[in-house]
Amino acid sequence: MEYPAIFEPLRFRNLTVKNRIFRSNVSGRFDNYDGSGNQARINWETKFAKGGVGAIISSFVPVHLRGRIVPNYAMIDNDSRIPFWRAVGEAVHRHDCKFILQLSHGGRQRDINGIEYPKGLSSTDKSDPLHGFECERMTIAQINETVAQFAEGARRAREAGLDGVELHGANGYLITQFLSSAINDRKDEYGGPLEHRARFVREIVRAIRARVGSDFHLQMKISAQEFNDALAPFGYGPSGNTLAESIQVCKWLVEDGVDSLHISTGSFFPHPRNPAGADLPVEDLARSYDTMISNGERTFANFLLFHGTSGIVARRAWNRAAGPPDEIEGKVLPDARAIKAAVTVPVICTGGFQTASVITKALASGDCDAVSIARPLIANNDLVEVWRRGQDRADKPCTYCNRCLVNVVENPLGCYEESRFPSRDAMIAQIMSVFAPPPFSVDAAGVGV
Ligand SMILES: Cc1cc2nc3c(=O)[nH]c(=O)nc-3n(C[C@H](O)[C@H](O)[C@H](O)COP(=O)(O)O)c2cc1C
Ligand code: SF4
Repeated sequence: MEYPAIFEPLRFRNLTVKNRIFRSNVSGRFDNYDGSGNQARINWETKFAKGGVGAIISSFVPVHLRGRIVPNYAMIDNDSRIPFWRAVGEAVHRHDCKFILQLSHGGRQRDINGIEYPKGLSSTDKSDPLHGFECERMTIAQINETVAQFAEGARRAREAGLDGVELHGANGYLITQFLSSAINDRKDEYGGPLEHRARFVREIVRAIRARVGSDFHLQMKISAQEFNDALAPFGYGPSGNTLAESIQVCKWLVEDGVDSLHISTGSFFPHPRNPAGADLPVEDLARSYDTMISNGERTFANFLLFHGTSGIVARRAWNRAAGPPDEIEGKVLPDARAIKAAVTVPVICTGGFQTASVITKALASGDCDAVSIARPLIANNDLVEVWRRGQDRADKPCTYCNRCLVNVVENPLGCYEESRFPSRDAMIAQIMSVFAPPPFSVDAAGVGV
């Protein structure tokens, strides 16, 4: 076998995964408005399990309705959700693939508010600078309630027979809003020095351990460096948490009972460095961003920014902050290496991976224990099988154009890079394939089955 390191099993304290490739979290609007799941999500996850990844880390799964970032994401906010997640887990397990559910709360960082809670919760009462979504500073009672919601989410995931949970502690969502020196402006015991900013997530980890015991896999996704000033001309700053601060947080999390760390970057999402793109696709953005206009204080101004000459300016600013396209693959590896050197648990690294020889080198040199992949697997669901055949890269690799990302608030998730397909019709057919099989069908007599 050409790339044996990729196919080595990975042993965590409570979980063994058959190889070193994790499908990274990818959210798509496949589910129902009320947060119940449907067949399209099962079809979606099955594609990757069939393609050979060792484990799937789920999409953003809200632990409470107020933590939702977009309607139509399946949630885990009450016990009636358990049977759906059990069905997802069983579908994936049929292909010898594990399923780790991402316990999430968006806080003030949202895309579409939804009708139930127009305002989010946060460590602060300042709106998010990118879109201007309003929020309310959490009281101690709300903090305690939210900690309990994460613990209940973990308990439900375990009851659903899933293989573990991941805390979404990265990319600007609620846990980041507490951890971040750039966002958290509290004066109480949850703000100020790092120990205080880390209190919220540490309480969540301890509450989960108290609820599910010590033998259920628990990992945390963290932005090792925040680069909060990446878009400084558009209202962001200061730079936020440093790598040294994140290393300290990771050490505390391991002490508290976390089994693995998943390393990402950036204090908001999307961020020029995550998912790092070859170019900001402003034309696609102008078409889909209108969905958000009525939701944030800055969304209409942003919408105008993506058109004409201002579109060129936005694109240049974003691309400058993103860095050179040839540095996308493994961009976060230096941070993963530094964290791995400081902790005793396996480290998963995200960001741009799609070349077997690059991943093999990262694993062999001890930079990380596994990689997680989002866009290149959206482009080529069977990437792991491509590598098993001895090919270093897929014939039509992901171009990092980020069209999947900017379409996702309005359109079904899939690869929107037309140049990868023989025709536009072929691209649309591939995107729409997630709806087959449909939720229910009729038999020859016209009776629903
Ligand atoms: C369409 C899309 C949706 C995403 N949704 C999530 C999410 O729900 N939770 C999360 O932690 N990361 C999410 N991400 C980030 C990815 O998991 C991944 O960490 C990032 O894209 C870098 O990996 P890649 O270069 O392999 O795409 C998303 C990325 C994309 C492109
Ligand atoms: S649209 Fe396709 S090619 Fe472009 S970044 Fe997404 S998966 Fe990759």
